[in-house]
Amino acid sequence: MAVDFGLLPSVKFLILNLELKMESLKFDINGGLIMAQSNRIYLFDTTLRDGEQSPGVSLNADEKLEIAYQLARLGVDVIEAGFPIASPGDFNAVKKIADNVKGTIIAALCRANQKDIDKGYEALKGAEAARIHVFLASSDIHLKYKLQKSREEMLRQAVESVKYAKKYCSDVEFSAEDAFRSDIDFLATVVEEVIKAGATVVNLPDTVGYAVPEEFGNFIKAIFNRVANINEAIISVHCHDDLGMAVANSLAGLANGARQVECAVNGIGERAGNASLEEIIMALYTRKLFYNKETNVNYNEIYRTSRLVSSLTGMSIAPNKAIVGKNAFAHESGIHQDGVLKEPSTYEIMKPELIGISTNNIVLGKHSGRHAFRERLKELGFVLSDFELDKAFENFKDIADKKKEITDEDLEAIVADKAWAIPERFSLEYLHISSGTNIIPTATVKLAIEDMSFEAASTGDGPVEAACHAVDKITDIYGKMHRYKLNAVTSGKDALGEVISTIEIDGKIYTGRGLSTDIIEASVKSYINAINRHYHEKHIYNN
Ligand code: KIV
Ligand code: ZN
Repeated sequence: MAVDFGLLPSVKFLILNLELKMESLKFDINGGLIMAQSNRIYLFDTTLRDGEQSPGVSLNADEKLEIAYQLARLGVDVIEAGFPIASPGDFNAVKKIADNVKGTIIAALCRANQKDIDKGYEALKGAEAARIHVFLASSDIHLKYKLQKSREEMLRQAVESVKYAKKYCSDVEFSAEDAFRSDIDFLATVVEEVIKAGATVVNLPDTVGYAVPEEFGNFIKAIFNRVANINEAIISVHCHDDLGMAVANSLAGLANGARQVECAVNGIGERAGNASLEEIIMALYTRKLFYNKETNVNYNEIYRTSRLVSSLTGMSIAPNKAIVGKNAFAHESGIHQDGVLKEPSTYEIMKPELIGISTNNIVLGKHSGRHAFRERLKELGFVLSDFELDKAFENFKDIADKKKEITDEDLEAIVADKAWAIPERFSLEYLHISSGTNIIPTATVKLAIEDMSFEAASTGDGPVEAACHAVDKITDIYGKMHRYKLNAVTSGKDALGEVISTIEIDGKIYTGRGLSTDIIEASVKSYINAINRHYHEKHIYNN
């Protein structure tokens, strides 16, 4: 069933439920369920769970909520919000998302035991539609070395856990971890039995990214051929990208009967990551004649979703990344440019506008008022509250004073720079740097704390380090810089510098962002932003 993109999320959600119900009503003449005829593919987004398992990524509950709202706007069918038993922070984030984000199914990951499932349901119970996602490994390698269980024990535990989860929730997904490397006959038995136990979705992951596409397609087909009750559940694929084949494998799974695909924005996730959500969506759209599948996404939210996830996780996007990389739609060679000017389809298989990339060249500057600023943001699709708009406008004015032209890319960075979203215990008032060849870099920093100012000076191996040491002296919080990323938002000498740093404080990782035309200032702001996150978490969340 094709759904109008303009529909409200809750209406879309009702339609999704209706679609699922209609499918489950398709009986054949013998009374058994026939294979679902619909070509609708369900998108299960795991950016906030598997994606957050990317090394160095740590999102707080508010950041996760913001991403979840955006995923709902994008129109994914399921948001896997986290792994509630993993930590109190994870629990709170899943609960916050379940309580607030409507129009999509909210899932929580649980190991196959009662304690995990109890905790998972506790976090999910406020959701408009909840799914408990239970997983247990089925491959001999995992059974022998990780779980020290026999196949029989695994099967029993899988079935019991699905039955237990069913007491709480009608929608239960079972994942056979490392399914692709499992014995196919044993896996088929597991799938059949968990469906009998009530699993509505059975996920068959390539956990270690070992498969190649033709093989993975055949693997899904083999499961369909072996499992008698396969059409009573939706079969899902979840592919990792260790050999760079996660998207191709996922698509091969969909071409062979899987109806749900698990993926993450920008392909983030464990190790080399998960299948990239935007690549799957656009492959299904662009190659519709080949795949003949439907999704329910709002295509023009793709780019914004990608940028938001990149900015909040601090994981930048390679310029040549398909769909959302800076160069994805740039034509450099003369022959290509000539061809595109004559007829875009010569070298262009997708339109950047479709995924929400603006091709409008309007620029704002220091004389632009609040109205023009708001209108441009609206055209770019940003939905800001009055408070957020005021804060973003203040930021815009500061930057416009130093930079002649503010482009759409600058505006995106300004909106994404939500230093104010975390209460600013410490804010930068003044920064003086003395640095050069053959002198020891020295920094003097003045920070505002409530309505008082504190100043400190320090040295370092470079000007950024000197300034961070001075910040440490004032805050008495000592951060260790793990990752430092400086990105020029646009080209030109007056380009905005965007710094994303990941800082370890008391054994936890915090991501900070800073934006300025001065890269040392952007660096210090990003460091202070991470410290404010730490302070806020320690003193506000823990109260
Ligand atoms: O990769 C994997 O197998 C997983 C499962 C927990 C679904 O992430
Ligand atoms: Zn995974």
